[in-house]
Amino acid sequence: MMRFNSLKTPLVQGINLTKIFRYGLIWGEPVEAVKNVNINLLRGASLSLTGESGSGKTTLGKILLGIIRPTSGKVLFNGIDLTNPKRVPKYIRRMMSYIPQHPEEAFDPRWRLYDNIAEPLRIHKLIGSKEEEKEIIFKLAEDVSLDTSLLNRRPFEVSGGEIQRAVIASALATNPLFMVCDEPTSMLDISTQADILRLLKNIRDKLNISLLFISHDIEIASFMGFKIAVMLKGRIVEMADVDKLINEPLHPYTQGLLGIVKVEYVSSYAKNCRGCPYYDRCPVKMLPCREKEPKLKNVGGDHYVACFRY
Ligand SMILES: Nc1ncnc2c1ncn2[C@@H]1O[C@H](COP(=O)(O)OP(=O)(O)OP(=O)(O)O)[C@@H](O)[C@H]1O
Ligand SMILES: [Mg+2]
Repeated sequence: MMRFNSLKTPLVQGINLTKIFRYGLIWGEPVEAVKNVNINLLRGASLSLTGESGSGKTTLGKILLGIIRPTSGKVLFNGIDLTNPKRVPKYIRRMMSYIPQHPEEAFDPRWRLYDNIAEPLRIHKLIGSKEEEKEIIFKLAEDVSLDTSLLNRRPFEVSGGEIQRAVIASALATNPLFMVCDEPTSMLDISTQADILRLLKNIRDKLNISLLFISHDIEIASFMGFKIAVMLKGRIVEMADVDKLINEPLHPYTQGLLGIVKVEYVSSYAKNCRGCPYYDRCPVKMLPCREKEPKLKNVGGDHYVACFRY
């Protein structure tokens, strides 16, 4: 078994990550879905990613899990390079799990919830007998407060909140150390949303899981993380502790997301640009912003911002 680094070294390290999607020869220019991102996640810590639709949150989350291979850069999981898939041992894969943006991505609609939850256990051959499997599945259902009488149903025979609990149970089946939750509540009504968020928080704290939580809603993102990173056109443009970012946001885009300044809403279809990725919409832009891209820099404490004004 491998030894785990001390609490001070990151469990997950994204180093200079860039992902460029190309669309054939004729169709338009390549899209920089993630650009020059550096990100660290300590053992048991939570980081939230927020930013408008198309800003690259899902792509970054999947790169950190080794699901998407970056165009350049590296991901280290406890020192093991995930961007070199042949070198990643199976037992490392099961230490990571993904709760996708759409439950259909996680579950097969033809299978009962029971079999869907059991799938990762079966893939990784972590169970001996049928009885043992049943015991584990029932325990998982209990952990996520899913009524065990629902385990016989198929995904379309339960509510959105129930299926989300089942998806979480399945994600926990292999005892992960690192979990990415991608907009896990965007399809739910407000009160079910709150239940699921509380559940995720409890699980994270109880099991000491490192959580990357993705939400386009900055309020939800700040509820879940200790730290929060704001994405725009594939870049991280601001990152800080939650309190700091919410009370003293510096980037005009973050201020826009928080409703402090009014901005024109345009979906950030990740077009490539030379200057600041916010240039077109920024209410306080200056001359250099058009030609040069500001780097993410430390402005004191753990607060980082990519804006020439600071
Ligand atoms: N598989 C893919 N092939 C080509 N382009 C992609 C692919 N996945 C994402 N993109 C593009 O990369 C950019 C970032 O997409 P991504 O899904 O990461 O954004 P997001 O922040 O998760 O958005 P949302 O909030 O809508 O989920 C978008 O311009 C998107 O169109
Ligand atoms: Mg997404």
